[in-house]
Amino acid sequence: MLSQAKNELLTRIGRGTPMGELMRRYWQPIAAVAELDDNPVKPVRLMGEDLVLYKDLGGNYGLVQRRCPHRNADLSYGYVEQCGLRCNYHGWLFDHDGACREQPYEEMVDPGSRFKEKIRMTAYPVEAKAGMLWAYLGPEPRPLVPNWEPFTWKNGFVQVVFAEIPCNWFQCQENSIDPVHFEWMHSNWSQRLAGDTGPYSPTHIKIAFEEIDYGFVYKRVRADTDESHPLWQTGRVCLWPNALFTGNHFEWRVPIDDTRTLSVTWMFSRVPKEREPYVQERIPYWTGPIADSETGRWITSHIMNQDFIAWVGQGEITDRTHEHLGQSDRGVIMMRKRFEDDIKAMERGEEPKAVIRDPAQNECLELPIIDKAHFVAGMSVADREAKPLLARNLMPTDYIYQAGQPDHVRREYEEVMGFKTSPLKLVRV
Ligand code: FES
Ligand SMILES: [Fe+2]
Repeated sequence: MLSQAKNELLTRIGRGTPMGELMRRYWQPIAAVAELDDNPVKPVRLMGEDLVLYKDLGGNYGLVQRRCPHRNADLSYGYVEQCGLRCNYHGWLFDHDGACREQPYEEMVDPGSRFKEKIRMTAYPVEAKAGMLWAYLGPEPRPLVPNWEPFTWKNGFVQVVFAEIPCNWFQCQENSIDPVHFEWMHSNWSQRLAGDTGPYSPTHIKIAFEEIDYGFVYKRVRADTDESHPLWQTGRVCLWPNALFTGNHFEWRVPIDDTRTLSVTWMFSRVPKEREPYVQERIPYWTGPIADSETGRWITSHIMNQDFIAWVGQGEITDRTHEHLGQSDRGVIMMRKRFEDDIKAMERGEEPKAVIRDPAQNECLELPIIDKAHFVAGMSVADREAKPLLARNLMPTDYIYQAGQPDHVRREYEEVMGFKTSPLKLVRV
């Protein structure tokens, strides 16, 4: 249980709030590279700030305030030029640093005017990495965009998947350090949803949490396994500050504002060895629905949709003054404490956890990864049949993580992988 004051401290991310300032020390994925290639101007709300993301004709990315400094027009209807974004109202042009480059009529009537030099607007850096566009809203000097180990892998089919979740980001992130929910929310509930009342999946008998440089590892032993199992030996990662990493994918919980979160998934599927070498030209992206359009109820069929139901169900900003934490929540408690300590460290002028500044270190940030050999060295379709437990990335089923994968992405996946997928039946994780 937390006091209301602590709950506010951990959840609020507006500019000037302690957590808002802490979260602004980290790069956040906010869009797909291919998205801006399809449409070069996109309105974005990030940590309570209304912004416009764009790619200009010269190929530069920009992230600027949404309102034009002239008379407040909506710059998400602006158009890109060789360098910068032009307001569609009176044509003022702004570059990615927020400087005003042109004021066409002002310059016509007074060619020596220095008016534009007085105009400056909010602008943030953007970088492309791993098929995503990352934004940094914090103080300079900016750190590096983390180059997580899977971003260096070859021969993979990657897709970037979004969903907008109508609740606070922090309860989403608490789910990243919650091993017991796999059993009840994914395995057993999916079984019941499929009409199967047979025995439940093996129960958790032991869990553990360890802090690492880039977050926390959670480990688990289920009744059908022992401590030699990779889920105990290697575990999975609650990645700092707002992501989950499970081996084949990352899930970021990016705060849109205090009551909305952008879920961003980066999913890696290693092509079978028979399909090598494979170089992906363009990383596809899509946004999935979270509600069933017929019933208005949340979608229950896919793993992350099930998670979304937990997060949203806890309330817009969950009331932690009424919770009852138990042994299963030890990781949640550790995570909250680390955030509180980091806020204090930041306020003392120290660097918070997992901010990457060393280019040599950032060549490849290693993480605990179950079945790493599969991702790095690959696996043939024949091996997949021999080792089904290791071959979860070559499962010939639909995309199991989130509902709504467009047909064109599924077809592209099938073509790259060299096999057809079949409809999802029962989620077991
Ligand atoms: S409001 Fe943007 S140029 Fe006038
Ligand atoms: Fe989950």
